[in-house]
Amino acid sequence: MNDILIQDTIAFFKKSYGTEPQKIVLSPGRINIIGEHIDYNDGYVLPAAIDKIICFAFEKSNANTSKIIAIDLDEEFEIDLNDPIELSEQVWTNYIRGVIRQLQIKGFQFEGFNCVFSSSIPVGSGLSSSAALECGFLFGVKELYNLDIKPVDIALMGQSAEHWVGINCGIMDQFSSVMGLENKVIKIDCRTLEYEYHDANFIDYSLILFDSNVKHALMTSAYNQRREQCEEGIAILKINFPEVKSFRDCTEEQVHSVKDKMSGDVFKRSLFVVKELKRVIQACEALDNGDIPTLGKLMFETHQGLSQDYEVSCPELDMIVDTLKTEEAVVGSRLMGGGFGGCTINLIKKGHEERIKAKISALYFDKFGIKLKIYDVKISNGTSLYKNS
Ligand code: GLA
Repeated sequence: MNDILIQDTIAFFKKSYGTEPQKIVLSPGRINIIGEHIDYNDGYVLPAAIDKIICFAFEKSNANTSKIIAIDLDEEFEIDLNDPIELSEQVWTNYIRGVIRQLQIKGFQFEGFNCVFSSSIPVGSGLSSSAALECGFLFGVKELYNLDIKPVDIALMGQSAEHWVGINCGIMDQFSSVMGLENKVIKIDCRTLEYEYHDANFIDYSLILFDSNVKHALMTSAYNQRREQCEEGIAILKINFPEVKSFRDCTEEQVHSVKDKMSGDVFKRSLFVVKELKRVIQACEALDNGDIPTLGKLMFETHQGLSQDYEVSCPELDMIVDTLKTEEAVVGSRLMGGGFGGCTINLIKKGHEERIKAKISALYFDKFGIKLKIYDVKISNGTSLYKNS
């Protein structure tokens, strides 16, 4: 599926620089089965890398200047590695600047490079195109200059780059982009960064994404605000229950018992986090047992929590999930990723996919005048070199 993307990227590189690329890197987007907004709350999450990727082609430039071309945007930028690294108004370049900055902060030795990249990950759809950009780019420089960086550190440096750009995100997106494995979901313990792979076997259900095609302009500030509210919530819980170190040690009763000490919003956010933490454990067990209806039920519950308690949904996402809930062939559906737009992740009984796709697309267009996008995704490998480049 990505063959054309890869060949086109290589051809563009040759046309731009007149040489063969030395390294070709593929870096995927991600889905998340369940465990939303709890990676930054010491939770477990259950993501996987997918077959939507960014393809990068690299060569050493044998100079301090480096040139990076974003083929899809028809934009490029140059950077002198001796100059201080600052944020730019050309937003996509900041993820790359942020990664170079991380490499410099950590004291890695490298020189310039030429790079082109092109992507099949839709931007702003909650599939983590930015994590794929950070981690794929970092991986490419590491390969080009033989830097000794462990996969987990690529994820952590990618996350730090994202923080520098402005979103105070957790580790889920970068970790799954780097560590993904074909047909496996990754259960990540975001407190310790320990992880285990579980079979992504949905038996007679298909995993399909519906992209609302809505992008929320205030996503960054709303995301950072949720994180602050959780920090406030856990601080109050810790004062009242000294044995509590993080939300993971908390019960719902404990959260209820401090309701009066919290603002309404902080209470709702805290309650969601404690419930979602439990759901991930149950969902992973259901997946292991092949009990897809239970997994799906938990996904519906997550959506309700994200919509009503965490308040990161929007009318478009709610409409998709509410409509699918009335369909017997849909066992689970919920908004995926940061929220305020982007995709729902859905489990649809095999044989009913086309009917449901057609139905929801028509209803969605009627209601919002927006064309729904649909992605059938495959669970795939994490960031890696293409063949033996
Ligand atoms: C974004 C962030 C992740 C995670 C999700 C919500 O994708 O980058 O760290 O918090 O939102 O689960």
